[in-house]
Amino acid sequence: MKFIAIVGTNASFSYNRKLLWYMKKHFKNQAQIDVVEITDVPLFSEDTKVFPQSVKKIALAIKDADGVIFSTPEYDHAITAALKSLVEWLSWGKNQPLNNRPVMIVGASLGNMGTVFAQENLRQILSSPGLDAFVLPSNQFLLGRATEAFDHQDNLIDEHTISWLEHCFSNFMLYSKTIKPMRLEIQDEKEFEKKSKAKEEKQAAADDEDWWIEDTSLGFPLLSDADTGATENEEVNEPEISAYTQFLEEDLWPDDIMDSKGTFENE
Ligand SMILES: Cc1cc2nc3c(=O)[nH]c(=O)nc-3n(C[C@H](O)[C@H](O)[C@H](O)COP(=O)(O)O)c2cc1C
Repeated sequence: MKFIAIVGTNASFSYNRKLLWYMKKHFKNQAQIDVVEITDVPLFSEDTKVFPQSVKKIALAIKDADGVIFSTPEYDHAITAALKSLVEWLSWGKNQPLNNRPVMIVGASLGNMGTVFAQENLRQILSSPGLDAFVLPSNQFLLGRATEAFDHQDNLIDEHTISWLEHCFSNFMLYSKTIKPMRLEIQDEKEFEKKSKAKEEKQAAADDEDWWIEDTSLGFPLLSDADTGATENEEVNEPEISAYTQFLEEDLWPDDIMDSKGTFENE
């Protein structure tokens, strides 16, 4: 399986970056993990007319992957502004690459809580419409006291921490594999709906044209220039059968064309 691992900060030194590189190395026999930086991602603005190249690259990488791993720092009990900006870009416009994509969240911080607030924050963000990611439930990997967590080769030191990370990652692999057929089915359905909608719209446009042609050839005189494009000199045919001649011919005596004296209107 192939995963994209996003470093949730634009800082040049980061324990979250270390964590993702450790995961890449540690799980290399189980999956391909490509670590992706967000350093070049500009602050999101709706005024932007052209999608930034740096975001496009990340979006394509996500679309090509079986899932995404976010390693988030915690700034003021939330994710960093840099990561929020990336997520806003990814939720914007027609292409929403995180839609139905399996996501695993991990995080490292200096304190004891190991990014618990930032992870909850990211979980909530990723469930918003426009993102709709499939975030792995439970399996929270919270790396506290990050300054003491790695050795000189940037490997995690604590055995319990490593085995919990292995447990969470193996669940993420299982989760990604299990929901893959469902994701593909949803994708197929969406494409089918898109195609059907396009077909219906095409048919409706064609029906509109037919309606106009029928409307202008009902056999009635077309009286105004606006309707027909006719000039004043063109002969206009009056209807040949009036209501009066019609009831004479058909022997009908409708009340609505006889007045109270029994005479006919207009007589
Ligand atoms: C603006 C700012 C706010 C922070 N807020 C928190 C916080 O709310 N909780 C926490 O545990 N650490 C907080 N920290 C400390 C981070 O855990 C620490 O900087 C950590 O190294 C960030 O992750 P990184 O090494 O991947 O960049 C904050 C740091 C900064 C710069």
